[in-house]
Amino acid sequence: IGEKIKIGIDKIGFAMPKYFLDIRDLAIGRNENANKFVKGLIQSEMSIAPVTEDIVALGASAAEQILDEEDKENIEMVIVGTESGIDQSKASAVFIHNLLEIQPFARCIEIKEACYGATAALNFAKNYIEQNENASVLVIASDIAKYGIDTPGESTQGAGSIAMLIKKEPRIAVINDESICQTRDIMDFWRPNYSDFPIVDGHFSTKQYLDCLTTTFEEYKKRYNQDLSDFDAFCFHLPFPKLGLKAINSIFAKVEKEEKNKFLEKFHASIVYGKRVGNIYTGSLYLSLLSLLENCDNLKAGDKIGMYSYGSGAVCEFFNLTLADNFKSHLRNDRLNDFDNRKQLSIEEYENMFFEKIILDEEGNCDFSNNRFIQESDNAFVFEKVENHKRIYKKIK
Ligand code: HMG
Repeated sequence: IGEKIKIGIDKIGFAMPKYFLDIRDLAIGRNENANKFVKGLIQSEMSIAPVTEDIVALGASAAEQILDEEDKENIEMVIVGTESGIDQSKASAVFIHNLLEIQPFARCIEIKEACYGATAALNFAKNYIEQNENASVLVIASDIAKYGIDTPGESTQGAGSIAMLIKKEPRIAVINDESICQTRDIMDFWRPNYSDFPIVDGHFSTKQYLDCLTTTFEEYKKRYNQDLSDFDAFCFHLPFPKLGLKAINSIFAKVEKEEKNKFLEKFHASIVYGKRVGNIYTGSLYLSLLSLLENCDNLKAGDKIGMYSYGSGAVCEFFNLTLADNFKSHLRNDRLNDFDNRKQLSIEEYENMFFEKIILDEEGNCDFSNNRFIQESDNAFVFEKVENHKRIYKKIK
């Protein structure tokens, strides 16, 4: 029997909307002490999506940054993990496949289980490539987190999309086989079809997130005979960075402080982007990985990263990655400029953007093509209009 092929993340792209709200302005607008959000959640900004940057536009834009013509010829599957779907039937991956001009003999699907969807997509991609060694799979995690004006969840919103090219002999990180999942039928966060916003039992959700982590990690250590010393860093699903800190504290509860501090430094590198974007649901864990890899000088090829994915409802998974040789040269070192180039919204502008939506005429048309959000966007694709109930996207860059 030959050696098993290594499969994993070959490229990662990230797209976010052009706009953000400073979390301190939200605090003022809601009569809260700013420290509740800045220190209590470790959040500083939130990405805000205009109606023209939906999950298809953001997902296609994230992928466009990383794919070349050869990649588009080799992609045999496009999987989008999302819980902000634009249609109950048609998968967002089908629109994205077309926008990116990926070769036609591909399978395109959408996967849903709250924030866990993209991790399920990675599993599916890995299994497919094990059977089809020369294929690539495009995995996209794309979401817009909206809880509603003046709700407890409002400070944990965000918007953005991660795209990952999965293939053999990956240049960024190998996805290893060891993994443990856990499922619990709980109502911590859900969005019924009739509701624009999720219903959330906030404190219950954070308790479940942490309890799922500790019990799943215990099982992982037992089954694979591993312990904390087998890992060089951890990345967590980050609905808000403070929960990641609580996650670190809970798995290092019985460990020497010095040992924990080594991981804390890496943890801080992993939240640099999340602090400025907010929760992007399916993409949050992978944004935290991107942030760690691009902002930590203390990682090397062969290092093992523990990954905790959590989707409310709830399904979670603990798995791990091994960093590839020269992984740094396939990442960016200037991404913070993208954050600095966004436009800051006042609380009034944010509230107006929040309620902007598709209003159809009698024929099922709605046109955003003269909307300033399209002119201002830095992304490759935007959602331009609806014609006869069909969404139309436009390549602008
Ligand atoms: P809240 O109840 O308004 O806030 O909402 P709080 O009272 O818990 O305060 C937050 C923190 O700020 C606390 O820190 C306070 O002590 C602190 P902690 O004690 O927990 O460490 N604080 C202050 N600190 C400094 N100075 C001050 C100050 N005042 C207070 N002056 C909550 C917080 C997260 C519950 C809310 O925002 C919410 O419901 N968010 C949405 C749900 C969520 O994000 N859950 C996370 C776990 S579930 C998950 O991750 C899945 C998810 O991504 C969805 C999916 O899977 O699809 C959400």
